[in-house]
Amino acid sequence: MKLFIDTANLDHIREAASWGILDGCTTNPSLMAKEGRDFAETIAEICDIVQGPVSAEVVAQDTEGMLREARLVRQISEHVVVKLPMSWAGIAACRVLSDEDTRTNVTLVFSVNQAILAAKAGATYVSPFIGRIDDQGNDGMGVLSDIITTFNNYYFETEVLAASIRHQSHVLDAVRLGSHVATMPYTVMKKMIQHPLTDKGNEGFLRDWATVPGDGIEATVNEFLSRRDKAAS
Ligand code: G3P
Repeated sequence: MKLFIDTANLDHIREAASWGILDGCTTNPSLMAKEGRDFAETIAEICDIVQGPVSAEVVAQDTEGMLREARLVRQISEHVVVKLPMSWAGIAACRVLSDEDTRTNVTLVFSVNQAILAAKAGATYVSPFIGRIDDQGNDGMGVLSDIITTFNNYYFETEVLAASIRHQSHVLDAVRLGSHVATMPYTVMKKMIQHPLTDKGNEGFLRDWATVPGDGIEATVNEFLSRRDKAAS
């Protein structure tokens, strides 16, 4: 199970990377626009920080244009994964790029049929948009589940990347279904650690620790080690 962060915000990416659990990053044109920075510089910096797959989306709408953009964007870093929109032009571009050993992420996927097309075109990742399916009053997790079952049935190598995740229970559901990857906003990733019993437990430990004799772990252990070294010499 891989955890990706869904943002182009360098501060958030840096913080998530510092936790040591970040496997990759996904961006899209809207996330890029939010940061108001140069596209290529931003992708390069994200790749430097993440040192793992970073999805950078092309914006051309025709296959040739997508290929031109993709062949440039992939030169930014070995970590770049070319993100392509779900369309016949995107599928055709995906096939060409897969044959060139360029990693791809087919995005804006809302149905099993679309996911099958991406897998057949050799996509590295396929991104079903769970939250946006839910927004329509439909069952995002149901679509994710059907995609995973289909891919397993046919031994497709394409990885399922659960996207448009809005809250922690989306992450949990994606994990339960066996999604290869979940990409999520910084806020959702940060909240994954929260549990009231953890906070309560830690408060209790610290309260009790205050009654343990000595001047804290560092002083106590240092004193113990020097006593032991002296006795051994
Ligand atoms: O990266 C694409 C996807 O995760 C977008 O999510 O919240 O805009 O539906 P959202």
